[in-house]
Amino acid sequence: MRVIPVSPIPSAHNSHVPHLSPLRYPGGKTWLLPHVKEWLANRRQPPLLLEPFCGGATVSLFAAAERLAQRCVMVEIDPDIATFWQACFRRADDLCSAIATFELTDQNVVWYETQKPVGLINEAFTTLLRNRTRFGGILNRPALLNPRATDARPRNARWYPATITRRIRIVSMLARRQRLEFIEGDGIQAIDALKYAPPGTVIFADPPYLHAGARMYRYHELDHEKLFEVLAAKGLDFLMTYDAAPAIVDLVSQHGWAAARVRMKNNHNQMRTEIIITPRPHPSLGTVRVRQESAVAGSPA
Ligand SMILES: C[S@@+](CC[C@H](N)C(=O)[O-])C[C@H]1O[C@@H](n2cnc3c(N)ncnc32)[C@H](O)[C@@H]1O
Repeated sequence: MRVIPVSPIPSAHNSHVPHLSPLRYPGGKTWLLPHVKEWLANRRQPPLLLEPFCGGATVSLFAAAERLAQRCVMVEIDPDIATFWQACFRRADDLCSAIATFELTDQNVVWYETQKPVGLINEAFTTLLRNRTRFGGILNRPALLNPRATDARPRNARWYPATITRRIRIVSMLARRQRLEFIEGDGIQAIDALKYAPPGTVIFADPPYLHAGARMYRYHELDHEKLFEVLAAKGLDFLMTYDAAPAIVDLVSQHGWAAARVRMKNNHNQMRTEIIITPRPHPSLGTVRVRQESAVAGSPA
């Protein structure tokens, strides 16, 4: 039986950490920011932080804004999410104008549901609108509309133009200052391509999880063993999150890596346990080597 202790750092309460992502991302890692801060705290600004499965990019935005890393590179494979980030990086003013002038009604939401968007701004705006009008921000789901009141605000929409545009302008500013970059592509390849990474490069990996991934993302199939192999081959420091699935815990123990459990509340206010993984034990994060059999006190994974 493997035993994984609980991290001494509690997950963050939603209102106690900065929210910088313009997206409301399913599986977003805002709750993990105290761990990220602790992980990066003693490193005196790594020259590069790679986030190979960026989604809403909670960690890259936080690290770039707080200057916890000199440069953050975010990678995402979903072309709709990628287009959104490209618009934030390259055409923030146009995207913000589209958001500011949009009137949130069911009719307008339905119109965007049924149109095939054309052009960078239109495509990025459509992704943002879908992200903020669908259940839990999940792009796989239909929009939550109010069928009897076509002029009313769609139910459950999280559409806050002033907040969203402020966050997009922060992303654009960080990109202009060369603290943030975006690459559309495969995260495992991006790690593998770190051949000439400057010494001190670190990786924050939040891949689609083994079990929950299929519910949340269109791109949820991943070769988890390959991800572990590529990370091991690079020999760089990393912080990775996963569900505590036995197959993942097996991989952690096979690679001789360390893990800790973190209790968190998901978007639906349900308590869940996830694991954080580091290549070596990290005392302040509470990660310890995961062995096949352990006498360490704690609860089973
Ligand atoms: C758990 S989410 C990341 C959430 C993010 N940490 C946040 O706080 O918003 C995983 C993301 O990985 C993306 N993804 C899936 N397979 C990928 C791959 N092979 N390469 C890059 N991104 C991938 C998914 O589309 C999804 O956006």
